[in-house]
Amino acid sequence: MEKFAVQGGRPLHGSLRIHGSKNAALPILAATVLAEGQYSIQDVPHLTDISVMLQILNALGAKASHNNSVVTIDTSSLFSSHIPEDLMGQMRSSIFLMGPMLARFGEVTIYPPGGCAIGERKIDLHIHGLKALGAHFSSTENYIYCQADRLIGADIDLAFPSVGATENIMMAATLAQGTTTINNAAKEPEIVDLQNFLNRMGAKVQGAGTSKIIIEGVARLDAIHYQVIPDRIVAGTMLLAASVAGGSLTIENVIADHIKPLIEVTRQCGVEIDYARDIINVARKGPVHAVPLITTGPYPGFPTDMQAQLMTFLSLTRGSSIIRETIFDSRYRHVDALRKMGAKIEIMKNEAHIEGTASLRGAEVDATDLRAGAAMILAGLAAEGTTLVSQVHHIDRGYERIEEQLQSIGACIKRIQT
Ligand code: EPZ
Repeated sequence: MEKFAVQGGRPLHGSLRIHGSKNAALPILAATVLAEGQYSIQDVPHLTDISVMLQILNALGAKASHNNSVVTIDTSSLFSSHIPEDLMGQMRSSIFLMGPMLARFGEVTIYPPGGCAIGERKIDLHIHGLKALGAHFSSTENYIYCQADRLIGADIDLAFPSVGATENIMMAATLAQGTTTINNAAKEPEIVDLQNFLNRMGAKVQGAGTSKIIIEGVARLDAIHYQVIPDRIVAGTMLLAASVAGGSLTIENVIADHIKPLIEVTRQCGVEIDYARDIINVARKGPVHAVPLITTGPYPGFPTDMQAQLMTFLSLTRGSSIIRETIFDSRYRHVDALRKMGAKIEIMKNEAHIEGTASLRGAEVDATDLRAGAAMILAGLAAEGTTLVSQVHHIDRGYERIEEQLQSIGACIKRIQT
């Protein structure tokens, strides 16, 4: 079994470049189904989630390959609308294919994406939006079949600003007849990136980044070249790595605006941060102190995908903090592992009450999900002794060779076989 062995107590120094965004690349790769032709998409990170999406596209008849962070896809020969069950089960984000497949083929068969470690992952908002566009659904306990003779533009209200549902509806609506409005749309930067990708293809989408997105259906779209935005969650994770381990770090290829809430919180704790447009300098020299309450929320709120990593950091600050998780119903599975390393955390309903401690001690811990795994590595960077993190496949889903990135700035971390 692969594990990460992390030797704590070494401050970080140097600079590193952030790879392209997983959560921007995944819907963009799905959107290539909307038009036949040759695409090339740059700065796509080499992650297992990306590789699963490319396997699905190839299984549907596309010709996709991924070299040196560039994905080339030819979607001229897509012949199936039946997403393979084994691949669907490996990654929830395959749900992003529903909208584009419906728009391209008029039908799609998917398998309900599994829940995962961070909570129930419903798709009712995806179905609500696609039904509003004229899709009909039939399902058994094994699969969901979705069909539409013609997609017709509609006025769609989302009960919750779901990122995936917003993206699925946007993609389906680009080829619908008439105009679609999405009210209470998610506002994440990845949605703006998807709008830019679709408009480059010839779509007419406006309003991404606000809660109202308007899509005017067009007759056809074209294949294009594109470059994906940097991964804001990886950037935030590295900013917290320097905040936890100490030292000074320059983070390149980052859009500082996309992680403003994290910059504000870590500055309040005493971390020195300054930034230009696509570079952030982080320095943590002395002691850091707690902040009373952090609540996760839809963008531009504090991102739930940074909650576990922030908890590691707050566990090592002076004073008491509370984290309130409002997006997922069980995103605290990293707490047991942090407690095992000496962190003082109590869970009360959807709140984590943290009593900062001077240090953590190395231990053997599991990565329970993608971001919890990253939080374990951060804890290992600060802990006394060695921390062994297992289930590293979770981490490889969202971080490209994280051990090499951290080694390049002085961390003592190795990927070992046991
Ligand atoms: C996206 O997931 C991200 N994944 C997640 O990142 C991120 O945590 C999440 O948005 C929230 O920001 C990708 O972009 C690939 P949601 P998504 O639909 O689209 C409920 C990571 O670490 N909901 O905004 O699945 C849902 O149960 C991953 O990279 C419904 O109730 O998130 C959850 O509680 C983890 N019905 C909340 O909304 C629906 O139909 C947020 O889900 C859809 C969602």
